[in-house]
Amino acid sequence: MDYFSINGGDPLRGSVRIRGAKNAVLPILSAGLLTDEALHIPNAPQLSDVKTILGLLEAMGCRVERGDDGAATVQADGEIVWEATWDQVRQMRASICVLGPLVGRFGRAKVSLPGGCVFGVRPIDMHIKGLAALGAEITLEEGFIEAQVPGWEDGARLPGGEVFLGTPAGPTVTGTMNVLMAATLAEGRSVIHGAACEPEVGDLVACLNSMGARITGAGSPTLVIEGVEKLHGATHAVIPDRIEAGTYLMAGAITGGRVRVESCIPSHLSAPMDALQSAGYHFEIGEDWIEIAPRRERPLPVDVTTQPYPGFPTDLQAQMMALMVLAEGTSVITDRIYPDRYMHLAELLRLGARIRRQGSSAIIEGVSSLSGAPVTASDLRASAALVMAGLVAKGTTKVHRVYHIDRGYQRIDERVAELGGRIERLVE
Ligand code: EPU
Repeated sequence: MDYFSINGGDPLRGSVRIRGAKNAVLPILSAGLLTDEALHIPNAPQLSDVKTILGLLEAMGCRVERGDDGAATVQADGEIVWEATWDQVRQMRASICVLGPLVGRFGRAKVSLPGGCVFGVRPIDMHIKGLAALGAEITLEEGFIEAQVPGWEDGARLPGGEVFLGTPAGPTVTGTMNVLMAATLAEGRSVIHGAACEPEVGDLVACLNSMGARITGAGSPTLVIEGVEKLHGATHAVIPDRIEAGTYLMAGAITGGRVRVESCIPSHLSAPMDALQSAGYHFEIGEDWIEIAPRRERPLPVDVTTQPYPGFPTDLQAQMMALMVLAEGTSVITDRIYPDRYMHLAELLRLGARIRRQGSSAIIEGVSSLSGAPVTASDLRASAALVMAGLVAKGTTKVHRVYHIDRGYQRIDERVAELGGRIERLVE
């Protein structure tokens, strides 16, 4: 198994080009199931999660092609198996994104319930509620969601319908996407109220519209979908990964370096940049780049609460915590989206951090330095936080189980090394 050996202390300096967004490309590749023509994503990032979704689509009967540069093509023109098994969904929760397209195009789907994950219970009741509102009959049996459109054998399509998808924690991103994808091929009009406003949802809408769908309201909490009979193929470049960009900016901040993230959309990062500004960092911002300037002193403490977009993203919570560990004072981080997403906390303690957990909040008393130790990555973003901490800790930090980080960061070790970080990928 691969691990990272990191020797902390060197500021990161230089530029890093941001890749296509993981959380946009996974549902967008699943949207390939909505048509028998080819869907081509020229800038699909080279991540293990992308490999996983392509493997699932291939197992379901799609033709899948991958270029050396990552470009991916999906064509669902053969016999399609409308089923995703426990093993496939367990490996990656985003596999649930095949549910909506299957129901929309084939009128049938059998997809394993994902179950919990390291950061708590992650229900999918809204995906089910939404598909039911569009007219699917849903049963839950033996750990599977089975959905069918009455009369699917005779080619009946979903009627379409109106639904509110909000949860107590806010809108659901993949829930919105699943219902949206199913609604594109419905007989009539559908309306999603309480839709997620994340840029990745907007990107999916752009892709679906380029395939012939008729969706309005992207970026707002109300999506209106006029069903069409058929969708066609398309070429769609996905948006840059705002979480990858935010992670590199925070890595620049924690190491006292100057890092420029290129090929990003600065407006997608307004909340994280605001938090970093409150911590005393300065930026230069161009049309498609952001550069963070070094700060000689320790960061100022900042209280951060995660929220749905455009609020501070839960996917940058762990990385912000790594930074706050070194702040000059006490900060409070609260995760309202995933109140138990704190697996990184205990690992940061091993490096010398002082953090207490209180319900959905973590109280962080800043320390002046960290010292290297072996730590274990538990999920993708927690791993990124541990790499960041390792880059400033004195001595050597070994981050184990880095397969988590390969799910969502393309060759992070090589790119951090190019920025001057002393990091090596080794095999244990
Ligand atoms: N929720 C429900 N019922 C549902 C669905 C969600 O109560 O049916 C709750 C969740 O428990 C949570 C909140 O709603 O409290 C938001 O969850 P959401 O459904 O939006 O999460 P997701 O769609 O499963 C996506 C990203 C996650 C990211 C979250 C929140 C993808 C593939 N995943 O997950 O990304 O943390 O939105 O922004 O898009 C990551 O990239 O590391 C990652 C975990």
